[in-house]
Amino acid sequence: MKIAVIGAGPVGMTLGAGWAAKGHEVRYGARNPASDKVAKALAATPGSTALPIAEAVRWADAALLATPWEGARPAVSGVDFAGKPLLDATNPLTPGFEIAVGHTSSGGEQVQAWAPSASVVKILNSTGAENMANPVYPQGRAAMVYAGGDARAKAVASQLAADLGFEPLDLGGLEGARYLEPAAMVWIRLAIVQRLGRHVAFGLMRR
Ligand SMILES: NC(=O)c1ccc[n+]([C@@H]2O[C@H](COP(=O)([O-])OP(=O)(O)OC[C@H]3O[C@@H](n4cnc5c(N)ncnc54)[C@H](OP(=O)(O)O)[C@@H]3O)[C@@H](O)[C@H]2O)c1
Repeated sequence: MKIAVIGAGPVGMTLGAGWAAKGHEVRYGARNPASDKVAKALAATPGSTALPIAEAVRWADAALLATPWEGARPAVSGVDFAGKPLLDATNPLTPGFEIAVGHTSSGGEQVQAWAPSASVVKILNSTGAENMANPVYPQGRAAMVYAGGDARAKAVASQLAADLGFEPLDLGGLEGARYLEPAAMVWIRLAIVQRLGRHVAFGLMRR
C-alpha cells in the first residue's frame, strides 16, 4: 500500500519505517520537506521520499496524521483526501500536557471536520512510539484500539496496525476517539509520571 505520512517526529518516523519494513511504500508529507526531522525520517525509511502534504496525499492510498495538535488543523486543511483513510495518531494536548477537548467531542472528530474529504480513523494515539516500533511482548501482542465511521477505512487501518504487530480492536464509530484520547493520558502518566518507563503496553486478556 502507498502511505503518506504527515509529520516526521518520533511517531511519523517510527510508523513510516515500520510500514516500509513490511513492504509498504512511504512518502512523507511535510510543510518543509528539507527539515532536519524529515531528513532523519527519510534516512530511517528505505525507499521513501518527501513531498508537500497535498502531493503526498494525492499519491497515496492512505495517510497518517502525526503532527503536534497545534499542527493538525494547518496540516490537513484544504487537502483533498478523496475519501482515503486518514489514520489520526494525534492527541489533542495543550502545551501544558492537558487534554484540550473531550467528553462531548474529540480531536479525532475535529480532524474529521477539518478534513471532510478524508475517512478518519483514530488509531495509534494511545501508546508510545517505542511500542509502535515493536508491540510484541513476552506476554503477547499489545492492543491497538481504533475508532472510525467508515468500515472500509477501518479495515485498512486495522491491517496497517496488524502489520506492525499490534492486536487491532474495533471500538466502533469515530466518537470512540473521546475515550481513546484520554486512554493515551493513562499510558503517558503510567510510563512517564509514575515512572514505569516507555516499554510498557496495554493488552487484552480473554477467558
Ligand atoms: N511521541 C509519542 O510517543 C506519541 C505517541 C502517540 C501519539 N503521539 C501523538 O502523535 C503526534 C506526533 O507526535 P510526535 O512525538 O511524533 O511529534 P513531534 O516530534 O512534535 O512531530 C513533529 C512533526 O510534525 C510536523 N509538523 C508540525 N506542525 C506541522 C504543520 N502545521 N504541518 C505539517 N507538519 C507539521 C513537524 O514538521 P517539521 O519537520 O517541519 O518541524 C515534525 O515533522 C502528537 O499529536 C502526539 O500527541 C505521540
